Amino acid sequence: MNYNTCFHLRLALFISCSVLCLAMTARNLNSDQFALLEFKDLLADPQNVLANNWTASTSVCRWIGVSCGIIHERVIALNLTSMNLRGTIPPYLGNLSFLLSLDLSRNNFYGLLPKELGQLHRLKILQLSFNSLNGEIPSWLGNLHRVQRLQMTNNTFTDRIPQTLVNMFNLEILNLRFNQLSGQVPSSIFKISSLKIINLFSNSLSGSLPNDMCQHFPKLEELYLSRNELSGNIPSSIGKCNNLQILALSSNQFMGIIPKSIGNLTRLKELYLGVNNLEGQIPEEIGNLLSLEMLNVQAIKGLTA
Ligand SMILES: *[C@@H]1O[C@H](CO)[C@@H](O)[C@H](O)[C@H]1NC(C)=O
Ligand SMILES: *[C@@H]1O[C@H](CO)[C@@H](O)[C@H](O)[C@H]1NC(C)=O
Ligand SMILES: *[C@@H]1O[C@H](CO)[C@@H](O)[C@H](O)[C@H]1NC(C)=O
Ligand SMILES: *[C@@H]1O[C@H](CO)[C@@H](O)[C@H](O)[C@H]1NC(C)=O
Ligand SMILES: *[C@@H]1O[C@H](CO)[C@@H](O)[C@H](O)[C@H]1NC(C)=O
Repeated sequence: MNYNTCFHLRLALFISCSVLCLAMTARNLNSDQFALLEFKDLLADPQNVLANNWTASTSVCRWIGVSCGIIHERVIALNLTSMNLRGTIPPYLGNLSFLLSLDLSRNNFYGLLPKELGQLHRLKILQLSFNSLNGEIPSWLGNLHRVQRLQMTNNTFTDRIPQTLVNMFNLEILNLRFNQLSGQVPSSIFKISSLKIINLFSNSLSGSLPNDMCQHFPKLEELYLSRNELSGNIPSSIGKCNNLQILALSSNQFMGIIPKSIGNLTRLKELYLGVNNLEGQIPEEIGNLLSLEMLNVQAIKGLTA
């Protein structure tokens, strides 16, 4: 092949690729629009927030709550927080394949999470708090490896927390407080070493915590397990979670003594242990916690101040 042929071939390839890529972008932005229009049609929107704004005559990228990427011109964020929307979450959202952030918090979404959301492989933020979603937390959420923030507080999720969340290698915030989750906290949760905040406050979780729970938690800063039905001892390995600033274990059925290793948590600012079946003394090692601002040890048996 001489230089000229080669050049023309490359030019031809370049042109056909450009045309094809443009066509693909256009089709996909249209499919984003289609997905959002279907979504809108299925929702009750009493304040007409979307009704007059999400119209086919303006680009989807200009719609309220929608953000597009600069290079690919695809929908990358959907933020419909506090819009008084009501309905189930339709499967069409699973077609927004470039979505990085989905915030449907503070509305009246109810029902199950559609499995199509499991197709959103680029998703980093899933914020569904303050709705009436129910059913179990689906195990396919574990397929969304890039999720950093999983926030689904104040819903009515029931059943067990799925083991598969361990596949979320980038998870930093897991916030499921104020739900009706039950069963054990899966031991796999304690292997997600990227976690900074775990909040399971006010659920119906039972069983005990694994002895080695702090073996893999270099970054954990806040652990909220208060107001559940957890039992057994507070694992002595707790002292290895050495970035902890808030540890909330109150209002459970923990028993036994308070482990001395708590004195190793030198960054601790808040420690809640009250209303359990703990007994004995507060270990003097707690005196090492120079950052401590809040110590709750209400109703510990045999405690002498
Ligand atoms: C839709 O809402 C956005 C954001 O508030 C606004 O910039 C845009 O002009 C609105 N579009 C229409 C057609 O009302
Ligand atoms: C959605 O928008 C609200 C306010 O408009 C903002 O506070 C919130 O952080 C946004 N959500 C996300 C995930 O960025
Ligand atoms: C989008 O999602 C719906 C429901 O999940 C599906 O029926 C449809 O074929 C998908 N594709 C496009 C391009 O809209
Ligand atoms: C979240 O749920 C709890 C328990 O049902 C409730 O006390 C709290 O007020 C709720 N928060 C909001 C903002 O609805
Ligand atoms: C707590 O710190 C002491 C002294 O540095 C160390 O000997 C002990 O192994 C630590 N305990 C835990 C559970 O990390």
